Amino acid sequence: MQYNEKLNFLLVALLILVVPAIQAQKPVVHELSTSDKVKIETLLSTMTPDEKAGQLSLFLSGWDTTGPVLRADYLNLIKEGKAGAIFNAYTVDYVRKLQRMAVEESRLKIPLMFGYDVIHGHRTIFPIPIAQACSWDLTAIEKSERIAAVEATAEGLNWTFAPMVDISRDPRWGRVSEGAGEDTWLGCKIAAARVRGFQGDDLRANNTLMACAKHFAAYGAPQAGRDYNTVDMSMISLYEWYLPPYKACVDAGAGSVMASFNEIAGIPSTANKWLMTDLLRKEWGFDGFVVTDYASINELVNHGIAEDFKDAAWQALDAGVDMDMQGSTYLNHMPELLNEKKITPATIDHAVRLILEAKAKLGLFEDPYRYCNKSREKKEVMTADQLDFARHFVSQSCVLLKNPGQILPIPAKVKTIAIIGPLGDSRKEMLGSWSAAGSWEKCVSLFDGVKKMAGDKMEVILEKGCNINDYDKSGFDAAVRLAAKADYVILALGESCGMSGEAACRTSIGVPGVQNDLAEAIVKTGKPVAVVLFNGRPLALTKLASMPVAILETWFGGTEAGDGIADVLSGKVNPAGKLTMTFPRNEGQIPLFYNGKNTGRPLDPADTADEYVSRYLDCSNDPLFPFGYGLSYTRFSYSGLVTKVDDHNISIAVQVANTGDRDGEEVVQLYVRDKVGTVTRPVKELKGFQKVLIKKGETQAVSFNLPFDDLAFYHPDLKKYWDPGEFVVYVGTSSAETLSGSITVK
Ligand code: BGC
Repeated sequence: MQYNEKLNFLLVALLILVVPAIQAQKPVVHELSTSDKVKIETLLSTMTPDEKAGQLSLFLSGWDTTGPVLRADYLNLIKEGKAGAIFNAYTVDYVRKLQRMAVEESRLKIPLMFGYDVIHGHRTIFPIPIAQACSWDLTAIEKSERIAAVEATAEGLNWTFAPMVDISRDPRWGRVSEGAGEDTWLGCKIAAARVRGFQGDDLRANNTLMACAKHFAAYGAPQAGRDYNTVDMSMISLYEWYLPPYKACVDAGAGSVMASFNEIAGIPSTANKWLMTDLLRKEWGFDGFVVTDYASINELVNHGIAEDFKDAAWQALDAGVDMDMQGSTYLNHMPELLNEKKITPATIDHAVRLILEAKAKLGLFEDPYRYCNKSREKKEVMTADQLDFARHFVSQSCVLLKNPGQILPIPAKVKTIAIIGPLGDSRKEMLGSWSAAGSWEKCVSLFDGVKKMAGDKMEVILEKGCNINDYDKSGFDAAVRLAAKADYVILALGESCGMSGEAACRTSIGVPGVQNDLAEAIVKTGKPVAVVLFNGRPLALTKLASMPVAILETWFGGTEAGDGIADVLSGKVNPAGKLTMTFPRNEGQIPLFYNGKNTGRPLDPADTADEYVSRYLDCSNDPLFPFGYGLSYTRFSYSGLVTKVDDHNISIAVQVANTGDRDGEEVVQLYVRDKVGTVTRPVKELKGFQKVLIKKGETQAVSFNLPFDDLAFYHPDLKKYWDPGEFVVYVGTSSAETLSGSITVK
C-alpha cells in the first residue's frame, strides 16, 4: 500500500472502532464486586431497625465563623450509626473528622456519604446552568461538571445534588436559572452530558461525584410560575415534555434521583408510588436510590395527604423513596412502623440495600477516606487551567440580543469607556444562585475585566447610577455626567443573583427598579451604548430593546465573569450563544415557548382582519426574542436546503455562508413539524443542531441525519412511535428564522 492508502486505511479502521464507541456514549456501569455484595448482605443481617433507619437519613451540616460545624445531636447520631449521609459538609479535615466517627466509633462502621449542591462549579464557579445551555456546547458543559467533580471530591465530597433537569416554560419561576431551558430534546442531551461530567466512567475514582437527577418530576411546571406550587398536566404532556430529561440521566447512569416538592395530579412526588416505583424503577430500570428534597416527607402533612409525620414516613417509604433529607421521619418512625407491621422488613431492606450499594459504588467500603486527600485539596482546586476554561465558558454562554449599527465589539478607536449601572463593579452578584464553595471575593467584576482588557490603551471610568431594585434616581446625574466624559458606554443592568433561584419567583420580569430609566437618561447623551445584562431568567426587555442600544445577555458568569465578558465586548471572542428559553414581550404572554401547538384557529399574520383567531388584542403572539436566537458579530446566510428520505432516515443538508467580515461560530438548528399526527403536534420541534466555525467569506455544508425513530412521540396509549405522513423540515439560525422543505415518510 502507498503511504496515502495506508493512512486512509488506518483512518477508516479508527472510524469504525472509535466513532461508534463515542456515539453510543455508553452509560457508566457501576458493577458491584462479589465482596461488596457479601458485605452488604452481611450488614443487612446484622443491622438493628434503628441503624437501618439511620442509613436512610441525611443530615445537614452548617458553618459558623470558625468553619464547618455539625449539631451535637447529629454528631451523636453518627457515632450511634444512625446517619447515612451528611450534606453541606466539605473540606478534607472536617469530612475526615466526621467519617472517622462513623467508621471508627459506630458499631457497624458504615461510612457516610457526603453530598452538596455542586450545581455550576464547586470552587471555580462557572456560568449558571441556563447560561451554559445557551452555549449549545455539550463538550464544554460536560467538562465544567468534570472540573466541578474534581474540585468537590478534592474537598471530601462524593455526591452532588445535580443535575437539575426540570424543563420549564415559565420565566417567572426563579429556578429556570438552574436548568437547561424550555426544550426537552436539548434538555436530554445536556442532562446526559452533566451526568457523564460528574460521574466520569468510574464512580470509584477519587475524583468523580455521584450525580442526582432532580427534581423528579415536573418541578419546573408549577402553576403561575410560583415555586413549590401545584403541578397538574395531561399524561401526554408529562411523558412528552417533562419526563425525558430525568430518563436521560437514568440512561446515562446517574446514581441517585431526588423527589420533587410538588404534587402531580394530586399526589406529591414524595408519596408517588407510580412515579418512584412503577415508572422510575420498573419501566426505566433505575437501580440507584431516591432521596427526598429538603424535608419533603414532612411536607406531605401540609400537602394534606398524610395525617402526621409517621403516616408521611410510611407513605414515602412505601412509594419507593429511600433516603429522608433532613426530615428525620424515617429515623423517628420506621422502627415503630415495623413493629406495627405497617411496613415489612423487606421494604426497609430494599431501601437500605440501595444506600449501601451506593456507598460500595463510590468505593467507600474499600477506603472511606478516598475523597479526603490534603494534597489534592491544595493542588486541584482553582488551577490556572480551570480558571482559563471558566473564562472561555463565560464567553461561550453570552447571547448577543441586539447590535444596531455594530455598536459591539468596542471599536479600537475608543479612548474612554464609562461603565455605568448597578452591576458594573459587582463581584458578589456574579456567582448566581447556588454557588457551592465559590467565593465572591475571587470573582472578576465587569469593571475588573474591562480594565484588564483596556490595559493602557483606554481609560475605564465607573459610576453606579442606581441600585438594582429600588426607586432612587439620585445617582442619575453623576452617571450622565460620567457618560458625557466618555466616548463609549457599557451599561451593566439586570437582576441581583438573589432574584432568581429557589423561592425567587417574580410576577414582573422586567429589568427591575429604575434601571430602564437610567438607560434612557444615558442614551440621551448620544454616546454609543452597549448594555451588558446580568440575570437568572428570561426578562421582558421590550422597553430596553426599543432603545438604540446593543444588548449582550451574559446571565451570571461565575468566577471569571468579567474576563469572559470582556473577551466578547472587545471582539476577541465572537459571540455564538443562542437562547434556550423564549424571551416574552411581557408577562401576559407567559407561558410562551417555541414548540406550542397550531390550534384550530391559528393566527395568520397576513390576514389581520380575521378577529376570531388565537391572538391577543393588545400584544403580538410572537416573543421578543425566540428560542434558538442569538446574533454574531458576523452574518450567516442559509441556502440550498436539500432533504432526502430513505428506508429509515431523513438526510438534510444546507449551505451556510459567513457573509460578514470576521470568522464566527454558528449554531445551525434543525426543527421538524409533523403535519398530521394521532395527537396534535407542535408547530416546531428541535431535532438536532451543529455548532460550526465558519471563516469569513466561506461557505460550509452542514448535514443532519434524522432516523425515523426521532420522529416518534407519545400517543394516547402512552406508547412512543411515529406516524407516517408529511413532515416539514426547518433548518436555520433560530426557531423563528429557517429555511424549510416538505417530506413524506411512509
Ligand atoms: C432544593 C434542592 C437542594 C436541597 C439541598 C432544596 O431546598 O430544592 O434542589 O438540592 O434543598 O440543598
